[in-house]
Amino acid sequence: MAIGKLLVLGATSPTGKLIVKRAQELGWKVTVYGRRTLPEHAEDSSIKTVQGQLDDEDILRTAIADQHVVISVFGPSSSRADADVFVPAYRLILQTMRCVGVKRIIALSTYSVVDPRDKPNLLR
Ligand SMILES: NC(=O)c1ccc[n+]([C@@H]2O[C@H](COP(=O)([O-])OP(=O)(O)OC[C@H]3O[C@@H](n4cnc5c(N)ncnc54)[C@H](OP(=O)(O)O)[C@@H]3O)[C@@H](O)[C@H]2O)c1
Repeated sequence: MAIGKLLVLGATSPTGKLIVKRAQELGWKVTVYGRRTLPEHAEDSSIKTVQGQLDDEDILRTAIADQHVVISVFGPSSSRADADVFVPAYRLILQTMRCVGVKRIIALSTYSVVDPRDKPNLLR
């Protein structure tokens, strides 16, 4: 029996793949959500795969409903990628979580998120 239900957003990423693998090892029932699905996830009958875009409200709601925890590693895959999609996406994710009563999220940020208190370093 699973210890809980975990939704991984961005499971196609290198980090996401590791999270899915480790969560399974620890006994979580894993659902993955993204704009595409990896064969290794689709072919694993213990993983539920949900395909959708970052702004697909209804599909996202279906994926989030009934989960205990969300881990999100969505993020721009390169410095040239459009990062503007992620702010509304996270608003939607958090709003949907509130609506369906899911209270826990762990979300990776990125070095492209700036804060006025940041000090210059090699990446910026
Ligand atoms: N790698 C690093 O050096 C580094 C450093 C600092 C922070 N981070 C952050 O850590 C997280 C994971 O990094 P990573 O390198 O393992 O993964 P990654 O290659 O940055 O992949 C990010 C994930 O987000 C998805 N994604 C990107 N743009 C999207 C869009 N427009 N619509 C829907 N999905 C989108 C990707 O889906 P697809 O597979 O479909 O593209 C993928 O699942 C990211 O948030 C990244 O910004 C990474």
